[in-house]
Amino acid sequence: MVRTTTLVLVGFQVLVTLLSAGADYIPPSRFDGFVYGKGSLNLLDTVLIEAFYDPVCPDSRDSWPSLKQALHHYGSRVSLLLHLLPLPYHDNAFVASRALHIASNLNASATFPLLEWFFKHQEKFYGPNTRNLSRASIVEEIVKSATQVLGRSYYKAIKNGFNDTNTDHQTRVSFKYAASRGVYGTPFFYVNGFLLSDTGDAIDYKAWRKVIDPLVGTKKSIQNTESLHFFL
Ligand SMILES: *[C@@H]1O[C@H](CO)[C@@H](O)[C@H](O)[C@H]1NC(C)=O
Ligand SMILES: *[C@@H]1O[C@H](CO)[C@@H](O)[C@H](O)[C@H]1NC(C)=O
Ligand SMILES: *[C@@H]1O[C@H](CO)[C@@H](O)[C@H](O)[C@H]1NC(C)=O
Repeated sequence: MVRTTTLVLVGFQVLVTLLSAGADYIPPSRFDGFVYGKGSLNLLDTVLIEAFYDPVCPDSRDSWPSLKQALHHYGSRVSLLLHLLPLPYHDNAFVASRALHIASNLNASATFPLLEWFFKHQEKFYGPNTRNLSRASIVEEIVKSATQVLGRSYYKAIKNGFNDTNTDHQTRVSFKYAASRGVYGTPFFYVNGFLLSDTGDAIDYKAWRKVIDPLVGTKKSIQNTESLHFFL
């Protein structure tokens, strides 16, 4: 009896410790994600696309050019908030995602260029290609690569970023946020908060136009909305 009580107490203490360890970063001090382009986001004045990407995921990579093309087509009428979901079965997804947080902290405009760098060179960081490498050497490789994108003067800062527990927390928050939205793979897209149902293939530019055109107030869609109001 005494033993059981002790066990329960120890279990409770472990639970309390775990909870208090997590409590300092959930909820985070700012909303998760990186805004594409202009930097700030006015949620209620724009069509909001949320993309969940893993920087070392080939499907995320393949979906980016058409999404980017659509964003450029719509300009300020459509915004992108990028979230990261480092998938546990992609060996270097967490360090790559952490590099994006580090880059973003140093220069927010460098986040998407670094993401594109990862997309271009991601094979280098696939599991089978890094099987014999130490974690430290992979981090060093990523630091060097991020330095190419951000500029030589950032080498030390990027390296220090990997020693800063805050960037570890930011990356964990990204993972937890994706999990809390029910995202279990990449890429996943939400439009104005609603999951874009899976089209099977990677969504291409034409598919984006089909989704977004009716939402941004083209003449046709305004008429549709008006006739809809009539029935409501
Ligand atoms: C931040 O990154 C952008 C895009 O790469 C670059 O044009 C700009 O010069 C950088 N700013 C600083 C202060 O490094
Ligand atoms: C890893 O090491 C093993 C054993 O030395 C070797 O057979 C394999 O080709 C190496 N893999 C890579 C990706 O370098
Ligand atoms: C990072 O931390 C390790 C262990 O605490 C230390 O040996 C290393 O010098 C640190 N690196 C940087 C760049 O601060």
